Amino acid sequence: MVIITEFKMKVAVLVLAIFGSAFAASIGNDVEIPPFRHLELDPIRPSEEPSRRPHLRIINGYEVVPHSINYQAYLVARSSSGAWSCGGSLITNRYVLTAAHCVDGATSIQVTLGAHNLRNAASGQVTVSASTWTMHPRYNSRTIDNDVAVIRLASNVGLTRGIGLSRLPRRSDVGVNLVGRTGRVSGWGLTSGSGSGSNVLLAVNNTVISNVECNSHYGVVRREEICLSGAGGRTSCNGDSGGPMIVGNKQVGIVSYGSRGCPAGAPSVYVRVTKFLDWIQSNSDWRAS
Ligand SMILES: *[C@@H]1O[C@H](CO)[C@@H](O)[C@H](O)[C@H]1NC(C)=O
Repeated sequence: MVIITEFKMKVAVLVLAIFGSAFAASIGNDVEIPPFRHLELDPIRPSEEPSRRPHLRIINGYEVVPHSINYQAYLVARSSSGAWSCGGSLITNRYVLTAAHCVDGATSIQVTLGAHNLRNAASGQVTVSASTWTMHPRYNSRTIDNDVAVIRLASNVGLTRGIGLSRLPRRSDVGVNLVGRTGRVSGWGLTSGSGSGSNVLLAVNNTVISNVECNSHYGVVRREEICLSGAGGRTSCNGDSGGPMIVGNKQVGIVSYGSRGCPAGAPSVYVRVTKFLDWIQSNSDWRAS
């Protein structure tokens, strides 16, 4: 997670932070690493470690075994005012699941699959244009409610060892309590201090906490959201928005927002996928089971 906003404590102020062009970087010959797009929410309690400095760091993430998260997508979205990057997950050979704030305002989106090191394209890595994308109709950029979107690819993606499908929850998983289980979130973060993108896919694991506990930090977490603890200084802040959070072998979350300043211990908040199975099914060719 990159934080380039000055830390300011305001209660329940929602900020759309589109990271500045200073952090846009081009690595390699042709791979662009635009700034991340990430939503942030000020906690309702002062952080223990407020900082007025930008944090440019990945917080206790680890490099994943290449292609072990073979449904992980890397998105580059563009608009007339610039480009930004996000994560996503391939849910069928035609559709990618992501956060609404990742596609909001985009005029074009490129989706890369089968990647591990963005600096060295893997054999079998593909980049496909999006043909269309659909944000949840009740997505609210101010409150970050219903932060879910699907992207339709211009062509089908062939499934290979390096490109696979995310498993979304089954209908029978709706309502299952995940508190205390381990979640894993993945994405291409920024490396410490350098301000350039992480070349390799990173992940971080932490414990699912209850919304009540999460709300002791944020106050506005809804039933349609699910939180991971920030214990041990491990935070999803290193993951791109829109990327997958899994518990067991199922994607139960979509990276949505975190605490401004990314203070150690702050929980991170995800779209709760079980609340959107019908919407995803209605807006893609994915079918719930
Ligand atoms: C993280 O979680 C994943 C998925 O549950 C698991 O396979 C992996 O062993 C965990 N890694 C660490 C470092 O805890």
